[in-house]
Amino acid sequence: MVRTTLSMLLILVPSLACFSEVAPAGDEAETDAGATSEDSSATANAESSGGAATNDSAGSSGDTDDSADDSSTGEGGGYPDDVTDVLDLPWPPDNYAEPDLPEHFESSAVQDLINTPGDNPVTDNGATLGRVLFYDTGLSANGTVACASCHKQEEGFSDNRRLSVGFEGGDTGRNSMGIVNSAYYDNGRFFWDERADTLEDQVLLPIQDAVEMGMTLDGLVTVVEDQAYYGPLFEQAFGDAEVTTERISFALAQFVRAMVSAESLYDEGIAASGDPAVPFDNFSDEQNLGKQLFFGPQGNCAICHVAAQAPGAPAPGQPRNVAIFQPVMAINNGLDMNPADEGAGGGRFKSHSLRNIALTGPYMHDGRFDNLMQVVEHYDNGVQGGPDTDPRLMPGGQPQNLGLSNAEKQAIVAFLGTLNDEVIMEDPRFSNPFR
Ligand code: HEC
Ligand code: HEC
Repeated sequence: MVRTTLSMLLILVPSLACFSEVAPAGDEAETDAGATSEDSSATANAESSGGAATNDSAGSSGDTDDSADDSSTGEGGGYPDDVTDVLDLPWPPDNYAEPDLPEHFESSAVQDLINTPGDNPVTDNGATLGRVLFYDTGLSANGTVACASCHKQEEGFSDNRRLSVGFEGGDTGRNSMGIVNSAYYDNGRFFWDERADTLEDQVLLPIQDAVEMGMTLDGLVTVVEDQAYYGPLFEQAFGDAEVTTERISFALAQFVRAMVSAESLYDEGIAASGDPAVPFDNFSDEQNLGKQLFFGPQGNCAICHVAAQAPGAPAPGQPRNVAIFQPVMAINNGLDMNPADEGAGGGRFKSHSLRNIALTGPYMHDGRFDNLMQVVEHYDNGVQGGPDTDPRLMPGGQPQNLGLSNAEKQAIVAFLGTLNDEVIMEDPRFSNPFR
């Protein structure tokens, strides 16, 4: 019942099952690595361009230098000193591959949204490597900024700035995005303007961005190779210690996809009632009113922000998404008559998940709204009817005027607060592993 698509993928790739074994690689690391990569390329990864535990790129340098041997994990299990001196990582590695998710995440309507590619399933060792990369300031040109600088765990994996600050103090072009539940976006594109085709492509772009981290890909590989703690982690994740940009991108993408937020007050309520239209026992009256407005026609938020949500009551027995609070594509939500930033074209923008939204302000791609009340007021009576404004915000061809009372607006804000997930914000699996 708790099996997810991610774990299904692991079942399809039997050779990867070794990743969940408790036994350390130990002396067998070198021999196992070869066998693993052959197995996986012979089975589900036949067409892979170098996924987890495959070593196609090792072909060019099959005889990696001695560092691979030196860095294999210790005899008695666990990481060698090179790793443990610098990093506080659990052994065996944390569970990322098979998260124990609630039932409303298991519906086919939710599973169908997952963008994990067949050649890069989440593995425990791959996501562990990704976690270290995510928190490593060494990946920026002057060693000051990591992914986590702008995607802070305690701030919903975003930050509280209108624009974020890069490695040399410059401002980013847009507001930092929260990144939980990135796996559940089936067109698989990333950034506000969806310019990255895949998460694997996306994660290498901030590293090379002139404002954000300022590195070249060659420089990145050199920096990672130079840190003794990475050899054993690459070996665990990919079968040998070779560092490639593809492996860095795969590991970072695995870590980001493993960030699944599913333990908010809302999740408790939907698990108990099964239907967002029913008042939740664990909600206050205000939160229940906000939920009704959010999902119903009066506030009309779910029609965009809950993926694949059709208006009205669902057909009986139909699989339904009540877990993923994210539009399925980039949309123009009527911020400007003539958008200064065209985004994905015509002022259309991706909105990331509304989970933890109360913690990720300011809001919108340019951070123009300081708080959620201003956001709700935009939808209440601030929508601009430009040529590309989404028709769902233009009933009868005119910008909508919801006519919400102050108490109703506040109720919507209160409902959004029920999407906060304190568990993921304190989950050690997603915390800074550096000592
Ligand atoms: C200097 C701040 C900064 C750093 C460092 C940074 N990001 Fe971001 N991140 C942003 C901003 C700003 C955006 C939105 C940019 C845009 O859309 O133009 C973003 C967007 C993203 C997205 C897109 C989310 C979505 O739903 O489309 C992901 C994923 C992401 N970052 C992951 C990372 C990873 C992984 C790293 C490290 C390799 C990283 N970021 C480093 C600021 C930063
Ligand atoms: C027509 C589709 C649509 C409807 C309806 C809609 N939204 Fe949005 N929403 C979007 C899009 C698209 C964005 C991102 C826009 C941008 O940043 O340019 C967005 C952004 C947001 C954000 C900011 C996200 C962030 O990370 O900064 C919040 C909060 C939000 N909407 C809440 C609501 C609420 C509450 C309602 C109902 C009152 C609602 N939305 C109705 C499409 C919609």
